[in-house]
Amino acid sequence: MKEQIKFKIKSLVDECSNDIIKIRHHLHQYPELSFKEYNTAKYIAQILADFGIEYQTGIVETGIVGEIRGRNPNKKVIALRADIDALPIQETSGVDFTSKNEGVMHACGHDFHTASLLGTLYILNHLKDSFEGTVKFLFQPGEELLPGGAKLMIEEGVLENPKVQSITGQHVYPDLETGTIGIKSGTYMASADEIYFTVKGKGGHGALPHQSIDPILITSHIIVALQQIVSRNCSPYTPAVLSFGDIEGKGATNIIPNEVKVKGTFRTFDEKWREDAHKLMIKMAEGIADSMGAKCEFEVRKGYPVLENDTELTNFNRQAAIEYLGKENVVDLGLRMTAEDFAYYSQKIPACFYRIGTANDKKNIGGALHNGNLTVDDEALEIATGLMAYMAIRQLDDN
Ligand code: NI
Repeated sequence: MKEQIKFKIKSLVDECSNDIIKIRHHLHQYPELSFKEYNTAKYIAQILADFGIEYQTGIVETGIVGEIRGRNPNKKVIALRADIDALPIQETSGVDFTSKNEGVMHACGHDFHTASLLGTLYILNHLKDSFEGTVKFLFQPGEELLPGGAKLMIEEGVLENPKVQSITGQHVYPDLETGTIGIKSGTYMASADEIYFTVKGKGGHGALPHQSIDPILITSHIIVALQQIVSRNCSPYTPAVLSFGDIEGKGATNIIPNEVKVKGTFRTFDEKWREDAHKLMIKMAEGIADSMGAKCEFEVRKGYPVLENDTELTNFNRQAAIEYLGKENVVDLGLRMTAEDFAYYSQKIPACFYRIGTANDKKNIGGALHNGNLTVDDEALEIATGLMAYMAIRQLDDN
């Protein structure tokens, strides 16, 4: 059974791979920013229509959902998800299908995820007599921008009617070679919150500090002290980072400014500690400012939660990947400090998010995520397409 399905999938991959590669190149040439993926959505819808797959558009405006029903469609419902948005980055990769939209690029591989899922659906639609249950698919907008398309799609009910029992998604990974995948069960990716604070003092002449309340010095104390939350309050068994990337205090060599604004990010892997840390940061920053005669307005903008890979589903998908790719090509991953809105699905239902190797040293393909130099290997697209189809069918023939 397994060998037969694998063989069928691989021949369908051969049948569609040229088209799927062309689809990715098209998406790559016309990237659109988060929640503005209007042409992308139209393009995806057209391809689904060409494949004879039914779908519904307009979910969170540019999202698309649909179902492929196998035999006994109510027996089990699983979901597959791809994100479709691009980033405000100027492409420098030099590929011949480089972005035609100035300053916008698929620098996080979502063109790959979208094309790959379309290929997977092409395969599953041909094999719908070979599995029992339903595959729901989600083309999700706005992964790169808060509040996150995943959150909004869940609020619009994409995990209901029919009720989805588990969800699987993938992400390109330029740290792994084509032909391999990386996977981790349990806690996998960090929560990510945006930190904004303003210290309000009293500006004046730099020569007369005793007549001012210096927000620059006070901010310096706050920044140093806040690191104590990571180094002293956080359990050493729970990784956390607090990084500040922007400080604005518009004085001069001889001018103490009125206020200083700071922006940063806080990330960790434990939802309870995350809440506690927010409170500690606010208390500490306000207390320090107060003790020095200033005011601190501290805002935590909550971002994506911790991404938890369901142990059972992830182990199942890992086993399917071993069957499809060979044991030597399935790599165990560690924790990852970046965040991903797929985490919202993982907070609702059993979820599995894995990494597909897309680097190819010999062809000089790699670069970095969220960088204009990112390139991904088209050969990896063929593997991703077939692998996700195999995972889905294995999930639906095992019960
Ligand atoms: Ni991404």
